Amino acid sequence: MKEILEELENRRGVARLGGGEKRIDAQHARGKLTARERIELLLDRGSFEEFDTFVQHRCIDFGMETQKIPGDGVVTGWGTVNGRQVFVFAKDFTVFGGSLSEAHAQKIIKIQDLALKTRAPIIGLFDAGGARIQEGVAALGGYGEVFKRNVIASGVIPQISLIMGPCAGGDVYSPAMTDFIFMVRDTSYMFVTGPDVVKTVTNETVTAEELGGAKVHTTKSSVADGAYENDVEMLLQTRRLIDFLPLNNKVGVPEWPSFDEPDRIDESLDTLVPDNPNKPYDIKELILKTVDEGDFFEIQAAYARNIVTGFGRIEGRTVGFVANQPMVLAGVLDADASRKAARFVRFCDAFEIPIVTFVDVPGFLPGTAQEYGGLIKHGAKLLFAYSQATVPLVTVITRKAFGGAYDVMASKHVGGDVNYAWPTAQIAVMGAKGAVEIIFRADMGDPDKIAAQTRNYEERFLSPFVAAERGYIDEVIKPHSTRRRIARALAMLRSKQQELPAKKHDNLPL
Ligand code: HXC
Repeated sequence: MKEILEELENRRGVARLGGGEKRIDAQHARGKLTARERIELLLDRGSFEEFDTFVQHRCIDFGMETQKIPGDGVVTGWGTVNGRQVFVFAKDFTVFGGSLSEAHAQKIIKIQDLALKTRAPIIGLFDAGGARIQEGVAALGGYGEVFKRNVIASGVIPQISLIMGPCAGGDVYSPAMTDFIFMVRDTSYMFVTGPDVVKTVTNETVTAEELGGAKVHTTKSSVADGAYENDVEMLLQTRRLIDFLPLNNKVGVPEWPSFDEPDRIDESLDTLVPDNPNKPYDIKELILKTVDEGDFFEIQAAYARNIVTGFGRIEGRTVGFVANQPMVLAGVLDADASRKAARFVRFCDAFEIPIVTFVDVPGFLPGTAQEYGGLIKHGAKLLFAYSQATVPLVTVITRKAFGGAYDVMASKHVGGDVNYAWPTAQIAVMGAKGAVEIIFRADMGDPDKIAAQTRNYEERFLSPFVAAERGYIDEVIKPHSTRRRIARALAMLRSKQQELPAKKHDNLPL
């Protein structure tokens, strides 16, 4: 028996070494951790249960029959994050560059199936060269099976992709179908075809970083939802994100102990909105002063910064926040901001996370660049997302809510359950100047008359009271009591039940 146990330990030791000391040293020299070191940091200490440690590929082409490494380039299993079950697979770059063989794909598929069956989140750690070139179509088949499972699990269990090294070919499409993608700065990149192929096909000279580094994907393409300095920071932040997420679409949001009183008032909010309506202020200040203990996990912080999206907690329970940001482009809605917020709203709705919306929006961004870029279709995505959301929707208009953007931003008309406005709110078709120029065009030669009409318009419409008279706003609230009002609204809405008509699926304007 002793020898058998020793044999097991020896075999495990070989598997743990992956591609060997030299390749592990090379991995460390690049500032990257190994697959197993990453899993250790991601999961609670000692909670990892590994599967398929001894799986090997079955390829006999190109001399592969003599090169077999137990585990075959991916470490898979399950464990816990702060006591809650998650599944994990981590590509091992030291073994054939983490490339995907048929056997490697089967390991991932086993974990995907278990995650779905047990309704627990799955986290993929990517650091890989795509399809195992020696295996050809068997590897492509493996990818297809992984992709299909990503889609079936979408909206049922949270799926998170951590990009921690190169990610090419098939290794970008699986992450692309998951809920969140995070990248490590300087050591990770994602592209469908790499710089060499780009050069051959388009004659463009571009570095891997310029083509698909963290900066590109968090600021330009919006493929990634955030970037971190190194592996350790990313893994710790992922643990923080998991704490916000429900385990699946049926169990509801997690509830953590909170020492922040729900009825805490914040007098400083009474002066957050400047007297001059054209002066910006930071909407994140309102978010941070509203959530429990100022703890806010922002999603896509570097992209379309004119809208802020992310998770916070009220009374220890997760809430999704969507807020126009007056500091950037005056908080206007453009194509990028609409798409960003729409995806976030749909995630929250799929996983039963209530949404709080803070509104200060001067409208949709005019111009050919926007119209040619499909503003109509992208703006419609956000309108669609809010209109089909059945989770509790609480909206607070802090200042401007102009034009179509008023309707879109979780107004009463598209499904807002509780709609509040601060006394500084201005709810109108447009600003006073634009409105008067249109309705009093004939008087434009008379500055006194125009000034008087502008004042008239401001007094009548640039307040929350016309909307409140109609019941579009449930109550005009004092800014300092925002957290208390939201907490009470969310508590009241906890039992909200809303069913949409049965259908196969909707036709979101993609
Ligand atoms: C087999 C691979 C491999 C692959 C890397 N390796 N990629 N083995 N199949 N796809 C091996 C290398 O031979 C090497 O083995 C080790 O991994 C490390 O690779 P290096 O090239 O030395 O590392 P580095 O210089 O850091 O470059 C990393 C890399 C590069 C950028 C990922 O290896 C690369 O470009 N690989 C090929 C990428 C690719 O074209 N993949 C196919 C995509 S097509 P040794 O033994 O020397 O350590 C695809 C189709 C699916 O994925 C599409 C579905 C939609």
